[in-house]
Amino acid sequence: METQYFDLRDTRRPGNETERIIAQAAEILRRGGLLAIPTETVYGLGANGLDAAAVKKIFEAKGRPQDNPLILHVPSAQWLSRCCEDVPPIAYELARRFWPGPLTLILRRKPIVPDATTAGLDTVAMRCPDHPVATAIIREAGVPIAAPSANRSGRPSCTCAQDVMEDMDGRIDGIVDGGPCTVGVESTILDLTCTPPRLLRPGGLPLEELEAVLGHVEIDKAVTSPLKPGEQPKAPGMKYRHYAPKAPVTVVTGGPEASAEEIARRLQPGDGVICFDEFAARFAGYTVETLGPKGDKSVQAQRVFDALRAFDSVEVGQIYAQCPDHRGLGLAINNRLKKAAGFHIVDADCPRVVLGLTGGTGAGKTSALKAIQALGGETIDCDALYHEMLRTDRPLRAALVKEFGPETFLPDGGLNRPYLGEQVFSREERLARLNEIVYAAIVPAVRTRVESGGSALWAIDAINLLESGMARLCDRTVAVTSPMELRLRRIMARDGIDEGYARLRIGAQRTDDYYREHCDLELCNDAAAPEEFEEKAKRFFEKIIETVKEEKQHGR
Ligand code: TXA
Ligand code: MG
Repeated sequence: METQYFDLRDTRRPGNETERIIAQAAEILRRGGLLAIPTETVYGLGANGLDAAAVKKIFEAKGRPQDNPLILHVPSAQWLSRCCEDVPPIAYELARRFWPGPLTLILRRKPIVPDATTAGLDTVAMRCPDHPVATAIIREAGVPIAAPSANRSGRPSCTCAQDVMEDMDGRIDGIVDGGPCTVGVESTILDLTCTPPRLLRPGGLPLEELEAVLGHVEIDKAVTSPLKPGEQPKAPGMKYRHYAPKAPVTVVTGGPEASAEEIARRLQPGDGVICFDEFAARFAGYTVETLGPKGDKSVQAQRVFDALRAFDSVEVGQIYAQCPDHRGLGLAINNRLKKAAGFHIVDADCPRVVLGLTGGTGAGKTSALKAIQALGGETIDCDALYHEMLRTDRPLRAALVKEFGPETFLPDGGLNRPYLGEQVFSREERLARLNEIVYAAIVPAVRTRVESGGSALWAIDAINLLESGMARLCDRTVAVTSPMELRLRRIMARDGIDEGYARLRIGAQRTDDYYREHCDLELCNDAAAPEEFEEKAKRFFEKIIETVKEEKQHGR
């Protein structure tokens, strides 16, 4: 298909030139074709929103999932009553204040709006764009225009006609060039079918402006956090990652100076950076895309998709992105960057704290780890990691085979435990060699997990924390200990064994004294119930975390 190009960058042309082009473009829409049009937010890919056949073509051209509904673009609020049922007065009030402009309202739909447009929902998204070219074309077409962003699905939204050409040339009937978009991020989506109204997508109209009119606005979870598997956002489109460059993205939040420093610390040769203009020189030698001045969120919004798009045509290892605070347009910029990062976020203002936990069976390490999780931390179970690596880590498997022979692994790939046990049983130097190989594999794996993870708090749970060298990764090592009587009771109840056997198990391990002596701190579990100990552990960890953070912040 040949894509017609219409140049409407300058609408003040002599004679009726502009009107003629608008009439031509509108004709494409009227006869059921696809037309990319400029709006103040991003370019839209329009079709007659009341014509199911035309709307279906949008999904094909974009490669858009069928369950993702479209926004109807209208030239004025008069269209609300034509397309929507039970329009509440507040919808008209918001339209009066913010239309034309980057605000989309979700309302109950009338039957005139086809299923193809709403993806079968009983609501419809309504928006009146603030762009003279868009308004003129929609008016001329005489129908509401269904238009998603004009990018191919999974690509960043298009903020200029050139981007649309890149994604859509040959797939649609026409592209209207109205110059670069002034806002740069998509419209703010507000659901008015629930009370209080709910923000489904932050965008070009800041949340604060809505709150000034509405009071409290609920923020849909999908705006600020990743969805759990199977969880459905209210705006179906929010469940898609939207845009992910080939290289993994880490968003570094916090003050501009702190985030720049954090990025500088993490950068490896070959990495890429999205940073505020002021810091570009600091990252010379890396692939840099600038986001605009650190204090100018309007420019940052205009630039954010461009910056992401640029990383499609260069090979980089990792991409680190600075990010403004969430006030005003910042919420939308945060959301677009964080979605591109799969919500992989590091907070530069909040230094990372890594705790190492060790101790014998029955002392209460599990409850202590739960306390860490309750504090928002992530835990690494080294025993589980070791078993996973035995299955999947080629270098580790190769090293074991080299040392202990091919019999180390069974034909099905699993570890030949009896064989390996026999190899190291009461042969100290063989056991030492096994440990050496395992530690050499697992310590770097844990380090990578912590350093590339987004959490500010980590607990490494390892029985051999001290012997493996893992302690070097930790800000503090903690011995979890417990009086013998309590430990015995716990093990007997937990594993259904008698006292003699429980004593044997404890006796085979290192003593509490050993852990006490070698760790930085001791957390003693003298509580009768696990919940009680978990509380104690929480308070204990909170104090350590605070101390470590203070040390780190002042040490900088
Ligand atoms: O600024 C914008 O809104 C741009 C320009 C072209 O107007 N359009 C745009 O459309 O961003 P699109 O299709 O890329 O994003 C529309 C979002 C999707 O997340 C979709 O799931 C949501 O709006 N949406 C549409 N209808 C909805 C409805 N009835 N209920 C909830 N969410 C809806
Ligand atoms: Mg889109």
